[in-house]
Amino acid sequence: MVSLTADWQIVKKIQNRNLLLCVLFLAMNPISHLSPRLHFCSRTNRNKMERQEQQKASRLVFVLYPSQGHINPMLQLATILHSKGFSITIIHPKFNSPNLSNYPEFTCIPISDNLPESQDSFGDFGIVTALNKNCEGPLTECIQQMLKAEDPQDRLSCIVYDSVMHFSQSVADYLKLPGISVRTGPAATMLAFAVCPRLDEQGYISFLESMSLDGKSDLLSLLLKELAFSMKKFTAPGFLELRAAVTDSVQRCSALIFNTVDFIEQEALTKVQELFSASAFTIGPFHKLAPTISSSLLKEDSHCISWLNKQAPKSVIYVSFGSVASIDEKELLETAWGLANCEQPFLWVVRPGLVRGSNCSELLPINFQDSVGERGCIVEWAPQKEVLANDAVGGFWSHCGWNSTLESISEGIPMLCRPFSGDQNVNRRYVCDVWNVGLELEELERGKIEKAIKTLMVDTEGEEMRKKATHLKEKVELSLKEGGSCYNSLNDLAEKILSFRPNEDGASGPTSVFSC
Ligand code: UDX
Repeated sequence: MVSLTADWQIVKKIQNRNLLLCVLFLAMNPISHLSPRLHFCSRTNRNKMERQEQQKASRLVFVLYPSQGHINPMLQLATILHSKGFSITIIHPKFNSPNLSNYPEFTCIPISDNLPESQDSFGDFGIVTALNKNCEGPLTECIQQMLKAEDPQDRLSCIVYDSVMHFSQSVADYLKLPGISVRTGPAATMLAFAVCPRLDEQGYISFLESMSLDGKSDLLSLLLKELAFSMKKFTAPGFLELRAAVTDSVQRCSALIFNTVDFIEQEALTKVQELFSASAFTIGPFHKLAPTISSSLLKEDSHCISWLNKQAPKSVIYVSFGSVASIDEKELLETAWGLANCEQPFLWVVRPGLVRGSNCSELLPINFQDSVGERGCIVEWAPQKEVLANDAVGGFWSHCGWNSTLESISEGIPMLCRPFSGDQNVNRRYVCDVWNVGLELEELERGKIEKAIKTLMVDTEGEEMRKKATHLKEKVELSLKEGGSCYNSLNDLAEKILSFRPNEDGASGPTSVFSC
């Protein structure tokens, strides 16, 4: 399918050519403008122009979940759809408010979340539960106000929400608006959501047993098994209810968007489409379709880019455990000495809070800095996409958050995987066992770290993996090009959105909005 942007170029070309034909025709025969052929051409053009106009008149409301690993992909998606001609309103809870000054083209509305000012950790499912409970009223009110003041030239088309903010679908249903659920993590995790039953007296252990995965070795079973184990370890209150509620909302949504590529998750995506009736659009990796605009909650330290520019190509190991994972003091020291001993230059993100309850920089031994000298660069937060795109980076030691994983494979960087929780275990499985572009670090111990980094970056043992990483990058690039799966899926998504509330009569519009 031709992109809508490309379509517009074609429309313009056809228009110019028709104009010329028209002038010539009329010059020869003043009544020839009634010719059916010309009439047909202009009607086609008019339809296309109307579609463009309709698109310009469509506003999408995005509902964010306020954690770094969710804010980034949602703002990237909003940027992509904005580049397709849609207007964007970003609605976000006040908690962990993103700085949206880099997005002047978006209308941004913070809504009340009733959370206490300070929250220690975002790993707490209590916060997710509270957001889903507390934000429903404010979101409904906010969108009702928008609908009341709606300009026919700027009509609200649908609510695009992070699937974790499942209450948004209830708001959409109540206001008779279409809801689009966005899964920012891998599509495979949606399966775990779906097969997880509502909480009953048997709890979720019965679910693990009912899966009867033992003995099965196909990819999907392995992934589900991985998830099952991480769920078994993770017994925070609210966890199962969250999964059930997300599944419930996805069953009611009008479309599903995944930050993934068809070929990297084919099996999981096929299964998702069997389980859910809404059409799924796979238009990832989002960050490759959107310009790099910072949406970091922490200040990016870009001095590491000038440091990287001085390093040899493919020599640097980049180390970051994302925005949530934390380690203890001993693990920090093992990591530090593993990096010191591996003899490769390293860029290490030691963000505030990485070590639970401590100031990380004070924990690093004095002789550590002396022993690494200029070979090591430590920052509190890096411009990660820029880092991974830098020629000097040859390996990424990661916690395997889905964004980090996509950002790494898109640049052809092999990964050293040290997952901490949730989907990171699934992502590790993809990286090491399915795509074969990384290896797992099973223990945070200095000798093992040193060996793993050498295998990943220099030893012949890792050569095949490095080649596969380059090959994977090329395949991802192809999917983004004209005719590729992401490219096509994005155009299909734009068409789908245009089919919502299609005209002034509001055929699928919120006719009873104000009486609700
Ligand atoms: C969370 C979960 O932990 C993860 O498992 C899930 O897949 C997404 O939500 P997080 O742990 O922060 O995310 O990891 P990740 O998904 O990798 O997202 C981190 C984002 O922060 C990435 O986009 C990365 O580019 C960015 N980042 C990270 C920086 O910009 N600078 C840094 O120094 C580190």
